[in-house]
Amino acid sequence: MSFEMWAEKYRPRSLAQMVDQKQIVERLMSFTKSRNVPHCIFAGPPGTGKTTAALCLARDLYGDPYRENLMELNASDERGINVVRETVKTFARVRTLGEIPFKILILDEADNMTRDAQQALRRTMEKYTGTCRFILIANYSGKIIEPIQSRCAPFRFSYLPRQEQDTYLKRVANSENTTLLEEGLNAIYDVCGGDLRKAINSLQAAASLGKPVDSEIIYSVVGRANPADVHSMIKIAIEGSFVEARKKLREMIMKYGIAGSDIIRQIHTELFRIDIPENMKIKLADVVGEVDFRLVEGADEEVQLSALLAKLVEVGYQLKGG
Ligand SMILES: Nc1ncnc2c1ncn2[C@@H]1O[C@H](COP(=O)(O)OP(=O)(O)O)[C@@H](O)[C@H]1O
Ligand SMILES: [Mg+2]
Repeated sequence: MSFEMWAEKYRPRSLAQMVDQKQIVERLMSFTKSRNVPHCIFAGPPGTGKTTAALCLARDLYGDPYRENLMELNASDERGINVVRETVKTFARVRTLGEIPFKILILDEADNMTRDAQQALRRTMEKYTGTCRFILIANYSGKIIEPIQSRCAPFRFSYLPRQEQDTYLKRVANSENTTLLEEGLNAIYDVCGGDLRKAINSLQAAASLGKPVDSEIIYSVVGRANPADVHSMIKIAIEGSFVEARKKLREMIMKYGIAGSDIIRQIHTELFRIDIPENMKIKLADVVGEVDFRLVEGADEEVQLSALLAKLVEVGYQLKGG
């Protein structure tokens, strides 16, 4: 197995290869067809194909020498807007080789720019529209100033649906001769929820162990406990077996190598999935919050988690008592 990152290796090379994001892909394809691209904003959560789509658009548009017509900058770079200005000026000086009169500048993390920097960016965008088209990438388009938004075609990326993510991961596993079990797929979705970069990185980390990828492996490479284990620990406590529950907790901490503060978060999630009356959940959520706070403040994990389990046992008694 090579050390190449799978997320790069399997990154689509053209718009036609993009997974899902159908409407976005269609609109972008219409740009390549008309050989014209407006300024764009690609907004959405991480790992949904924003950078990939921008690169694919450029490649489909310019063909192989696309690198000469494309520049990728990170807006949160400290030199910020000055680098953008210089790059665009250089773009403007050097004519493009092909028939397309403009180059493309991808500006990642554009929502991290200050308002002043964004104002300067707006002026640059206007001045050089003839020679340079901007693709601004952001997690939240709301953080981009209105005068820029109104000059850009908006594209809203969303998390990939389960089905699409599964198909993609199965294909990758197949090409890499890795056995990916159904429970492994479930675990990946539980942990990554449609962030494809995270999903494929988790798969690669798990596969590097050279065993069939099951849920245990996935949870351990991402440093989380299996929710099924957390669920059963809570149940055991509520049923009254304090010692058993504590044993289970210790096992989890050992097996998955996770911090107490991370388990707390998972306990919080699982509490709401457990079949107990609403008022009990509220009471327990309060306790979880308290323990979480104490852990942040540096209290002893073992002691605090035991106290939490004790509370669960107490609630269990109350339930039985009616
Ligand atoms: N829609 C998609 N189709 C195919 N691959 C994708 C898609 N979205 C993400 N990926 C995969 O995830 C990785 C990260 O995607 P990227 O475009 O960099 O995400 P973003 O810029 O939205 O954070 C890519 O290298 C690619 O392997
Ligand atoms: Mg990106």
